[in-house]
This record gives sequence, structure tokens and C-alpha cells, in this order.
Amino acid sequence: MTDLSTIKNDALQRVEETRDAVRLEAVRVEYLGKQGSISSLMKTLGKMTPEQRQTEAPKIQELRANVADAIAARKAELEEAELEQRLASETLDLTLPAPRPPEGSVHPVSQVMDELAEIFADLGFSVATGPEIEDDWHNFTALNMAETHPARAMHDTFYFPQKSANETLDNAPNARMLLRTHTSPVQIRALKERGAPIRIIAPGRVYRSDSDATHTPMFHQVEGLVIDRDIHLGHLKWTLETFLKAFFERDDIVLRLRPSYFPFTEPSVEVDVGWQDVDGRRVLGGNGDAPGHGWMELLGSGMVNARVIAFAGLDPDEWQGFAFGVGVDRLAMLKYGMDDLRAFFDGDQRWLDHYGFSPFDQPTLSAGVGAPA
Ligand code: DAH
Repeated sequence: MTDLSTIKNDALQRVEETRDAVRLEAVRVEYLGKQGSISSLMKTLGKMTPEQRQTEAPKIQELRANVADAIAARKAELEEAELEQRLASETLDLTLPAPRPPEGSVHPVSQVMDELAEIFADLGFSVATGPEIEDDWHNFTALNMAETHPARAMHDTFYFPQKSANETLDNAPNARMLLRTHTSPVQIRALKERGAPIRIIAPGRVYRSDSDATHTPMFHQVEGLVIDRDIHLGHLKWTLETFLKAFFERDDIVLRLRPSYFPFTEPSVEVDVGWQDVDGRRVLGGNGDAPGHGWMELLGSGMVNARVIAFAGLDPDEWQGFAFGVGVDRLAMLKYGMDDLRAFFDGDQRWLDHYGFSPFDQPTLSAGVGAPA
């Protein structure tokens, strides 16, 4: 039998000489692995007489423990050395100047939302928000779209899995959660929170399962809501006209109101804006009925349905008003001349460089909203 102390000395010396973890592991396998030499020694114990085994077993076990300890100690040393080396080589001098100044631009959607806030603030509106993960009640029911209302089918709603029966929500026990399909639920939330009279706009993200050049599953809307004691359609028309003139920075914006239908307004009106052909491009402005002109559908609106006012907890005999909803991305495209909605959400640096705004281009009415400084 090989002299145990020779094995031990050889093993310890080899362990000591290893310079990296891979070599160390090879040495470990050579001695302590299943087929390793010390493991083989352990197996010889079975063939010994009980007396032999009594004297030999402790020696072999001690040998195994010594070698295992040496390997563990060496492993720790190597790891420590490797860490030291990495710390020394991967230092970063935080006092050095940055190679390039920070870059970035304000996305046109953000810019347009800032412009809207600025324009409507001047008309006495404040900005309201609501959750993008909404419940069925706020998104549909309270907007006069009962469970079986056909208008629900037109929204291509993203639903969450049904909530379990013991989870309940404000106003909506066991309501099914969804990604809001429009900003209109903020009408309900704002009315419930703030009561009337109220003047708000609610810009934000909305979601529908729809995707092509002019539809993306996520897009942006801005909702408008005015509730007071004596609001009528004339106020709606003046407000939209004033807003669109300020937004497009033209005095010749002409609106055409067409009767329409939305469950949450009564009467409902679809608003078209006149455009004219300028070098083959449709530019907003002018009467759409003039030769070379036309009308483009821009937004939905109407007098808030009495049922909606009641759902929001107010007395419809005392309060009335108007609401409107318009696509923010669409407004941005019309104002700044982009033609593919999908590019809005690609995160392409070249597109952002081209269409993005400097953070210093703060929209102000006095400077003309959206006019570059
Ligand atoms: N919520 C509607 C939609 O997403 C837009 C809309 C129409 C909002 C009429 C309104 C409104 O507030 O009065 O299609």
C-alpha cells in the first residue's frame, strides 16, 4: 500500500502550487473524486480484517480530511486573490468629466400634453388623472354602458383574469379589471373626488387590442369635462374652437359639429375640422366646404348624459355639462407632420432626435404653444 504520508505530502504540495480554481478542481477530483486515489483507499477498508480496519480507517480518514481542508483553504485564497485583482483593475474614476454631455429629448406626445395643459389652464381647467388598470364599472358601467351594451364590443378591451369573489373594489364589488380603453373613466373619478362645478382635462395612456399603421395597442387620449349649472352646447363649441385655434396656432380653424352617438353623452356630436390642400398636403384651417378643402373627423363630444352624472353621484337636475375626447397622438401627427403612428413607440433614436423637443421648449401661451424657442 502506498505510504499515506507520501500521498499526503504530494497532495498538499500540488494544492499549494495551483494558481487557479480550474486546476484546483482537477486536483480535488484526482484525490477526492469518485475515482480519486484517496477515495480508492477508503474502498480498500472493506477488504481488511476488523483489526486492520480499526487501525487503518482513522489514518485514511485523517488523510482525506487534511487534503479536503487544504483544498478548501486554497480555494478561499484563490477567490480572495481574484477579487483583489478585479478590484484593482476595474476601478472607475468618478471625477473624470463625462465623454459626452447627457442627451435626450422630450417626446412629441409629452410635448403635446404639456401644450394641452397650458392651453386649458388658461381656460380655468386643471389636470386630472386616473389609473390605467381600471375596473369595469368606471370604464363602462358608470359611462352608461351596461354589461350587455353593444358599444363595449367596439373597444377591443384587454381584460385581466376574473378577480376572485372575495376581492372587492370601491363601488364595484368583484369587478373585472381591464386596461382602460379610453380616458372617459377619469370623468367619473374626478366627479366623485371633486364634485361639481368642475373643469378638468385628463390626458393619458389608453389601450385597445388593435394594431396597424394608424392603431397601436397603447395610445394617448385627452378627456375634457365641464360640469356646472348652466352649461350648454354653445360652451362646448366655443371651448373646442378656442382650444384648437390655440393648439394649431391658426385663427382660421373652422369646426363642423355632426350629430353622433356615444352612450355617455346626449346629445352627442362628432367634431370635424376644415382642412385645405397646400402643395398636396392637408393643412388644417379654412372652411371645409370651400373648393380644394375638406373636413376631417377629429374628436368626439357631447353633453354629459344625465345617467353618467347620476352614476358619479350628482343630481342631474342640478348639474349639467359637456365632455370631449380626442387622440393626443393624432393631434401631434397633425401639428408636427408625422405620418406613421407606430414610429411614436419604436424608441428609434433618429426619430426622437428629429421630432423630439428640447426640455427648454416649455410651451407657453405668450410664446405660442409648441413654437420652438
Ligand atoms: N371615449 C370616446 C372614445 O374613446 C371618446 C369620447 C367621445 C369622449 C365623446 C368623450 C365624449 O368625452 O364626449 O372613443
